[in-house]
Amino acid sequence: MSSAQDERRAGFERYKEDVENEGKPFFPYAMFHDTVMSLVVVSVIVGLACVWYFTADGTEPGLIGPHYVEEADPGTTSFIPRPDWYFYFLFYLLRIFKWPESVVLGTVGVPTILMILMFALPFLDRSRERRLLRRPVAVVAAVLTAVSMGVLTYKGATARESLGSEAVAAVDAWSSQQGGFDETQRSGAEVFAQVGCLQCHIYLGSGSANVGAPELSDYGSTTQRTIEQTAAYIRNPAEFGNTVMPPFPGLEDAGVLDDVAQFLHASSGATGDG
Ligand code: HEC
Repeated sequence: MSSAQDERRAGFERYKEDVENEGKPFFPYAMFHDTVMSLVVVSVIVGLACVWYFTADGTEPGLIGPHYVEEADPGTTSFIPRPDWYFYFLFYLLRIFKWPESVVLGTVGVPTILMILMFALPFLDRSRERRLLRRPVAVVAAVLTAVSMGVLTYKGATARESLGSEAVAAVDAWSSQQGGFDETQRSGAEVFAQVGCLQCHIYLGSGSANVGAPELSDYGSTTQRTIEQTAAYIRNPAEFGNTVMPPFPGLEDAGVLDDVAQFLHASSGATGDG
């Protein structure tokens, strides 16, 4: 038998003896500690909930925050979703990994790899050395992880977000390819770029074709609809037998539905091939 194995055996025997002589049984000692700590945690949460509930008054914020702000509006077109601060690093990872090619890598791939590494760690690092200076790989890995999460959190916190900002930047190019938009059509184009139409429709090379939605680059020169009919279609596609495309009642509320329709009708795709 190798001496390393002997050594480990002897170490384990020593450990068992130590436990026998000085150890305390899990029940009730450790159990008691855990119970006390759990009670403390639960009491803190209940306490915070009470502070929140009793210091706030309706929409007036108390010490922790208001009760209820306003009802959620599922039809909103201007809401910019942002995560809580402790998710900023993941949030920023998602901006690095672009939809759709590499997003699986960012959301599933990287976290899974990290998790597997964590599980494997006790089997990979079996040295007894505890002094930091003698563990360069572990220390460098830990520092790199902390620094990169810090940087990602900072970038996520300061990232300027505007819906469809890339597509909005493309509006100039669209305009010149479609022979120049007037003000209304331009406004419609910007709305179109921001409210998610490009998730299903392609327009002059922007967006992606999903769920069978047609390209809209030359909608104006090919459609049989009038501008009013197009607006009605966008407001409630289901009325026209299209149950795949969601209704966009928010556009009309915001007074931009007609702009979008005008924009689409100004789209002849004449010189555009993306
Ligand atoms: C969830 C995917 C989806 C989104 C988001 C979406 N559409 Fe559509 N849209 C479709 C599909 C699918 C069709 C085709 C339905 C059919 O052919 O019956 C369609 C058809 C259309 C048509 C009619 C096209 C034609 O040639 O008759 C117009 C116009 C249109 N969409 C405009 C828009 C606008 C403007 C937006 C954004 C405000 C938008 N769509 C958002 C899926 C979508």
